[in-house]
Amino acid sequence: MPTFVPTNTGITMFNLKIIIASTRPGRKGPSIASWVYDVAKTHNEFDTELVDLAEINLPFLDEPEHPRLQKYQHQHTKDWSAKINEGDAYIVVTSEYNFSIPASLKNAMDYLYNEWNYKPMAIVSYGGVSGGLRAAQSLKQVITAQKMMPLAESVPIPFFTQFIDADGKFNATDIHNKGLGILLKELAFWADGMKYMREKKKTQ
Ligand SMILES: Cc1cc2nc3c(=O)[nH]c(=O)nc-3n(C[C@H](O)[C@H](O)[C@H](O)COP(=O)(O)O)c2cc1C
Repeated sequence: MPTFVPTNTGITMFNLKIIIASTRPGRKGPSIASWVYDVAKTHNEFDTELVDLAEINLPFLDEPEHPRLQKYQHQHTKDWSAKINEGDAYIVVTSEYNFSIPASLKNAMDYLYNEWNYKPMAIVSYGGVSGGLRAAQSLKQVITAQKMMPLAESVPIPFFTQFIDADGKFNATDIHNKGLGILLKELAFWADGMKYMREKKKTQ
């Protein structure tokens, strides 16, 4: 078996994808995701991109083979694979539908496997009194099945509509900003460690 010698990769910049989970017309997800994106862009550890599942527009999973085989038949899957493969870390901005995640998000995650492996995922959720926490907890089950690390740090936003103004802008409070700052710092830490893990995995 080849020996893996750990070295300091010197990597300080990680590709961060911020995923907007909801896709319905009139959705509020983009308002909250814009705030997350603006804050993430101020962190110099991340090269940040917004990924909107409404724009990605995947059909219900239509690949005949298990995604771990990566025998993708459809261009939309190949494009989605390439997009997610670029990421070192993810933040999902998710609503809560019937105490769980939107089907659009579950579908998008089910499309792929290897592309998600050994990468960290953090959650910003929004909703009524629970702030989307039930959706966030159910998402963690999917995240672990994908061999990802679900971050303990999260930002749940209860009664989120009160922070969205007439122009659709989400006006974060100090508490939201503080929570997101802690989340981003921790996400960079995991992104660094898990990049090392992915390198080691290649030698096994
Ligand atoms: C199908 C559906 C189910 C919902 N279920 C919940 C729920 O379980 N918990 C909750 O806090 N809000 C729930 N809501 C209200 C959402 O928090 C609210 O509509 C929010 O704007 C949804 O996010 P979106 O606008 O990005 O789609 C639900 C909304 C929809 C459309």
